Amino acid sequence: MCGIVGYIGDKDINSVLMASLWRLEYRGYDSSGVASVMDGDLDVRKMEGRLMNLQEILADKPLSGNIGIGHTRWATHGEPSDQNAHPQVGCKNKIAVVHNGIVENYYSLKEGLLKRNHFFKSNTDTEVIAHLIEENYENDLKESVLKTVSQLKGSYAIAVISTEEPDKIVVYKYGSPLIVGIGKKENLIASDIPALLDHTKDIIIMNDGELGIISKNKVEFFDHEGKKIAKEKKKIKWDAESLEKGDFPHYMLKEIHEQSDVIKRNIKLKIKKNEFDFGENFNFSPKELANLSHIIIQACGTSWHAGYIGKYLFETFARIHTEIDISSEFRYRNPVMDGEPMVMAITQSGETADTLAGLREAKAKFLKILSLVNVHNSTIARESDSTIYLDAGPEIGVASTKAFTSQIFQLYLLSLYLAKLKWTLDDSEIRKKIENIKKLPKKIDKILAKENEIKEIAKKFKDAKDFMFIGRGINYPTALEGALKLKEISYIHATGYPAGEMKHGPIALISEGSPVVAIATKSSVYDKMLSNIEELKSRKAKVIVVGTEGDKIIKELGSDAIYIPECEENLSPILVSIPLQLFAYYIAVLNGRDVDRPRNLAKSVTVE
Ligand code: F6R
Repeated sequence: MCGIVGYIGDKDINSVLMASLWRLEYRGYDSSGVASVMDGDLDVRKMEGRLMNLQEILADKPLSGNIGIGHTRWATHGEPSDQNAHPQVGCKNKIAVVHNGIVENYYSLKEGLLKRNHFFKSNTDTEVIAHLIEENYENDLKESVLKTVSQLKGSYAIAVISTEEPDKIVVYKYGSPLIVGIGKKENLIASDIPALLDHTKDIIIMNDGELGIISKNKVEFFDHEGKKIAKEKKKIKWDAESLEKGDFPHYMLKEIHEQSDVIKRNIKLKIKKNEFDFGENFNFSPKELANLSHIIIQACGTSWHAGYIGKYLFETFARIHTEIDISSEFRYRNPVMDGEPMVMAITQSGETADTLAGLREAKAKFLKILSLVNVHNSTIARESDSTIYLDAGPEIGVASTKAFTSQIFQLYLLSLYLAKLKWTLDDSEIRKKIENIKKLPKKIDKILAKENEIKEIAKKFKDAKDFMFIGRGINYPTALEGALKLKEISYIHATGYPAGEMKHGPIALISEGSPVVAIATKSSVYDKMLSNIEELKSRKAKVIVVGTEGDKIIKELGSDAIYIPECEENLSPILVSIPLQLFAYYIAVLNGRDVDRPRNLAKSVTVE
């Protein structure tokens, strides 16, 4: 949510800042801006709307200098507008600030500043930071930033430049992510790794309460009291190529198509001679895991849907009681956590504020924390006792696709491992399941080859106003995910329901032509699903059935059928999700939506 970048070095400031902002556009895209210092003056360009608007202004009126900061915004305080775009500057036009996060006490701070004759040009919380730094400035930018952050409540990652000290960017992190990229005779800062990858793979991850002074030839770090601290450099594993769209029109489509490779890679990394290897960051002992009394999974959105599937897997295979909670509810409901539970955070970004808050809540109660995370070294990965990485590669499309199927993969594998430790499945059963996993990539390819068929079905339904997605058992959460995918990128209303629940209310919504997507693959609940579909058909609904290859009944029952290859019931959410992703994608594209940047959303939700 909001992306901040900064650069100091000899390259063209406009192209470096713009390229970095494009890489972070997924974090927010309602306005953007950049600022530089040159010959004692602050130069700012900012614009409402997509990054392209800013790029056009810069083409016309480029910045000069070799130090600059930039921002791409997801509005929290103040509507998207030129004035509310960052950077925000103080009254004297000497300080410019970009900010990711929220200043919770901004009303009272602003009141004080107004009384002291500061004048405000925006409705943002960020502008108070610029005024405070200006007010606190006594010939030392570092000290004035430290004094200012001691006055702030909330979460913030900020980057500050000043005409008074034009050779440095001062950054401070508290609650929102901030990474420093170390180059040769150049250094960078950014909210996330993709913005740095074109320049360097050497990074330093800042922790809460740390300040950095970024100069051309050195970077220095200090704690919140201003004492110098040493920080460790890390190497990024991703390469810049993996951030490109290639020949695909959208990141989302590219990422849907990557799913077979993601599963292949995970099989190679995590299954070794029928043993499980969850990587070097997974460090719970077999004994600890075998003694777990229960598991509490907390996550948001798509990751929550994966967690819901995890509940079925842990309970079915390992017979471990598992709770699933939405993070923003979990952290405020004071859950009972007696016994020896493990709290699990599932997150693509590793930065989701609600999931992080849930994790911290559990940590405060001294519970074991395992996280499933895609982004290496992200805050949630660092704060967990153990982490299993999704190894899905960078996910740029705002709608999560490959991270979701990888999350299900990890949960499936982990449930087998727990089953082994708890002796709830014998070795031959586990081996059989591993063989089933190994067949997944080919099956995924087979589904992807049906892309055009799915597009044709999407054409028939593109003008529908309301969709229902239904499933049972382990594919009930898959139905929830199908509905979320459709609504978030097409803006068409869609709701997921357990099929058996329809007659308890939602079936009242069904009338002639109502579109319903029903998941009726061959499974323990197949017959029940058929009955539910019959009930819908009698009310003249148009049912699109996702079923198993060779099943002629569903073809007769539904108005359209999408077939997936036969597979084990507990692995089927991975396969079923793919046609649902493609269906949502094509409905959105056919409606002219910006699928990679849906309105009002951002990929990394770093505010509560
Ligand atoms: C939906 C989507 C969101 C995220 C949610 C959690 O396609 O992407 O619902 O799943 O915001 O994000 P992470 O997984 O990064 O914690």
